[in-house]
Amino acid sequence: MKVLVVGSGGREHSIIEKLSLSQEVEKIYAAPGNGGTQDKAVCLDIGDDQIDELLAFAVEHQIDWTIVGPEVPLNAGIVDAFEEAGLNIFGPRKDAALIEGSKDFAKSFMEKYRIPTAAYQTFTDAEQAKAYIENQGAPIVIKADGLAAGKGVVVAVDKQEAFAAVDRMLLDNQFGNAGSRIVVEQFLEGKEFSLMAFVDGENVYPMVPARDHKRAYDGDEGPNTGGMGAYAPIPELREHVVETAVRNILVPAAKGMVQEGRPFSGILYAGLIETDQGPQVIEFNARFGDPETQVVLPLLQNDLIQVIVDVKKGKDPQLAWEEAYCIGTVVASKGYPGSYEKGIQLPELKQEGKEECFVIHAGTKLDGARLRSSGGRVLLVGSKQREQHLAQSSVYKYLERFDRDEHFFYRKDIGF
Ligand code: AMP
Ligand code: GLY
Repeated sequence: MKVLVVGSGGREHSIIEKLSLSQEVEKIYAAPGNGGTQDKAVCLDIGDDQIDELLAFAVEHQIDWTIVGPEVPLNAGIVDAFEEAGLNIFGPRKDAALIEGSKDFAKSFMEKYRIPTAAYQTFTDAEQAKAYIENQGAPIVIKADGLAAGKGVVVAVDKQEAFAAVDRMLLDNQFGNAGSRIVVEQFLEGKEFSLMAFVDGENVYPMVPARDHKRAYDGDEGPNTGGMGAYAPIPELREHVVETAVRNILVPAAKGMVQEGRPFSGILYAGLIETDQGPQVIEFNARFGDPETQVVLPLLQNDLIQVIVDVKKGKDPQLAWEEAYCIGTVVASKGYPGSYEKGIQLPELKQEGKEECFVIHAGTKLDGARLRSSGGRVLLVGSKQREQHLAQSSVYKYLERFDRDEHFFYRKDIGF
């Protein structure tokens, strides 16, 4: 098979690494990929949002399967376009991707199908939003309705902070159209985890749970980022909590989407919080999580393309998971998630002796034979081992090579 992977981040590099292990996969293309995907894939000069160009390429090169990483092309209708042209593509159509593309849609959908989530209300008027906040009190959470690259959520500790977020989104158009409507929701307390599943219509095949570390600095301090590291599975997460999440959240969501006439096909990602009342939904995503994918896919024992083919045929893919722990720590550019320098040469990434770690690229670019940084999250160093502490110590030993360069930073507490 010839497979096209759409996207340029660590998630896509991780998908490509997994596909490269398949006997069925003969050639992989990445659009556009990054500095780490060249080994296993042909990188194309086509952006992940250039749907017409991607479709033309897939038709011309007789691509057997296309796998879409990011939310933007999904919400722009890449799956609809490929399917209309008779091509195989894995991901939700535009009307189903809305479960991530509109928080207002996701919240009213959850309300309708009694999927546990925080109480909320939606506003387009700043004064009305503030009156609601005045009434509810703080802490309280303000969310831009549309896609905002993970930056559209403010957890306000007091009313002033909440009012300021309302003003930025509704009056100053901080997120443009994506923030012209906001969801104001109750603050939930508990530990977060991410649960992804392969979904097609009413069929749901859950993966192992993972935990992302969203804050920039150690001890969960600092601004929210796209994710600074992750681990899977989560030893302290009790099995029955995961089962409850599948039964009360993922399965009703898949069934509800079918009932709504917008069946979901692809990866359904539930961002969850374990509250005293059981797991509740923080957000749904319509795709693989980043960086969760980088620590979950290494544990998957099945052939990824076979899983996708089976799921799309309505057949149980019989997912099997390795009994091991995988942790991954992100190396980011100093300044991220704010502004940062690009083009910094990376240290040597080769390992001496046995390879205990793997490296997944995100914001890297090849410049001749040199690798340079090209984004906020530069790469992820991961390790999969029988014991969690061994995986951690391997990752942190490897990361020492970044300590000499003040252009990079990483969290020292991933998985601890
Ligand atoms: P999101 O982009 O929706 O995943 O939100 C980013 C982060 O904000 C989440 O990972 C949570 O830590 C936090 N968050 C979002 N919604 C809530 C909520 N209702 N209660 C508490 N924390 C929240
Ligand atoms: N790791 C969070 C996300 O992919 O949205």
